[in-house]
Amino acid sequence: MGNKNIFYDAPGKFQDTRFERIHNVTFPSAAEASKLVAEEIATGIRSSINKPYILGLATGSSPIGVYRELVALHKKEGLSFKNVITFNLDEYFPIEKDDLLSYNHFMNYHLFNHIDIPKENINIPRGNVSSKDIYSYCNEYEKKINNLGGLDFQLLGIGRTGHIGFNEPGSNKNSVTRLVSLDFITKEDAAGDFNGIDNVPDKAITMGVDTIMRAKRIVLLAWGHKKSEKVAKSIEGPISSMVPASFLQAHSNISIILDEEASSELTRYKTPWLVKDCKWNDTLRKKAISWLCNKLQKPILKLTQRDYNENGLSDLLETEGSAYELNIWMFNQLQRSITGWPGGKPNHSDENRPERATPARKRVLVFSPHPDDDVISMGGTLARLIDQNHEVYVAYQTSGNIAVSDEDARRYVDVSIATSGDSKKMNSLKLELTKKKEGTLDSNDLNKLKGDIRKSECFAAARVLNLKESRLHFLNLPFYQTRKVEKKDPSQKDVNIVKGLIEELKPHQIFAAGDLADPHGTHKICLDILFDAISEIKNKSFMKDCWLWLYRGAWQEWDINEIDMAVPMSPEQVIQKRNSILSHQSQKDKVMYQGQDKRDFWLRAEERNRNSAITFNKLGLTEYQAIEAFKRHKF
Ligand code: F6R
Repeated sequence: MGNKNIFYDAPGKFQDTRFERIHNVTFPSAAEASKLVAEEIATGIRSSINKPYILGLATGSSPIGVYRELVALHKKEGLSFKNVITFNLDEYFPIEKDDLLSYNHFMNYHLFNHIDIPKENINIPRGNVSSKDIYSYCNEYEKKINNLGGLDFQLLGIGRTGHIGFNEPGSNKNSVTRLVSLDFITKEDAAGDFNGIDNVPDKAITMGVDTIMRAKRIVLLAWGHKKSEKVAKSIEGPISSMVPASFLQAHSNISIILDEEASSELTRYKTPWLVKDCKWNDTLRKKAISWLCNKLQKPILKLTQRDYNENGLSDLLETEGSAYELNIWMFNQLQRSITGWPGGKPNHSDENRPERATPARKRVLVFSPHPDDDVISMGGTLARLIDQNHEVYVAYQTSGNIAVSDEDARRYVDVSIATSGDSKKMNSLKLELTKKKEGTLDSNDLNKLKGDIRKSECFAAARVLNLKESRLHFLNLPFYQTRKVEKKDPSQKDVNIVKGLIEELKPHQIFAAGDLADPHGTHKICLDILFDAISEIKNKSFMKDCWLWLYRGAWQEWDINEIDMAVPMSPEQVIQKRNSILSHQSQKDKVMYQGQDKRDFWLRAEERNRNSAITFNKLGLTEYQAIEAFKRHKF
């Protein structure tokens, strides 16, 4: 369905929407997109003159930017909500209205407290209706929407189960407002807020699929890599109750608004040669050829002219040369990305190597968002850089203190009391930990202790790699210091700290996490801060000699076409890396915020590094035990 929408599509822009059954637009950032969505809502509100504007709202992380923009429009441009009646999609059950984790609280906090909407115009399902009244309560909610003439606009997010509202997989397309059970994945996603999955309510009251489908206009927002799979299924897959958002294909006035990560699994981005003639560049050529190898399960040098032709790549052959030439080119590209000298090989030509040979001894600055990402993602490369005599520094951007359990903190308190006598501070920490209730914030002292625990683990990991303690920097960026999962917006203060360190060390290489799939977004914030810092100093002379390498590892790995440097590891180096990861004891066995993957970080890292080695090998390159992969980012 390639229809356009005046709010989001550039006029005359050709779209490659084959396979797509829902209108969708991709923006460079969620912030930019949220502004336009808020404008669409504001236009709707302003033009609803003779009747109230009936607005369906969602909670969760996706619509927060839209609410921020609506509040700004109210404050700066006088947008009034007096003529607006809102209906929220859902609410946990059971939950009290004033519970900090209720959607009722969320809506007040992000929107209603800051605009002029009359209280009586706000409708959010009540999470404390008595069980015997739920059925009639839900019917009333549904009736109220219908009696007002239905929803003029419904804002949606999408869950990792593909749910809309809390219509989980299996929901009926005729469903209306009702009590439902939450899917396990949905509960996992809420576990961070509720301090553990066991505290997440099992049920919720939600508008049904049919309630949503009857809205006159629907806009669904999805940001980030973790939404990409279900977004693609909803837009390109068959309509199925197993992906409830796919029901939206039958709506005639819907737009899905995405950022680049959320749209990455759509055919037009993932395999664009299947929907259009491409403008080929090195990255796209690599992407197409590795895709072809994977599809046919063949190494590069065995691909034939026919393989290219029969799999939608005849355009590549026509514009870029024979299969033989393409194969050789691709093989050389990958071969040249492999190096045991991540800081460059001194006294050797660097023409076909990923890094420069000079200066032979480089200053290397590794940024690690949390205190263990450095070793999880590039422990093998770090060891090589140190062994090869480079001047290596690691800067931990955040303290990672919220991920230390109370039980771990308690053990340190006990040891401290046992060894240093009856310190007042330790006794009060002991008391706090004894009395502490689930979900309450840590005191500043407890928070600091948890940060110190992670710091000591960094020292231990550094010892495994022979990295001096004095080379470790703990930046404690202010945006992270909230004592809870929700973080502050990053500010110039964060940028200045990162910038200051780069200016002080004047590195030849910076390594940073380009791992944007982390569940709480800390990696993305840390990378944005680094990019801002670099853009402020990129014209300084020392920055001309500075290369930026992005690593991944804790949550995802680079695709083969994105890899510019592949650093192999021997079996012994794999063990050394494992030991450095295991130094982060507080993150072992009972990781507090580990997302979907239940395995310890060392297992995840080893599997990813092994898989990268297998991928290179399957493409016809040498067989290594493991590989760490990096992408160069030019600024
Ligand atoms: C919220 C709701 C849910 C969320 C979805 C995405 O009212 O009904 O469907 O929209 O779970 O949540 P976030 O935006 O937090 O990723």
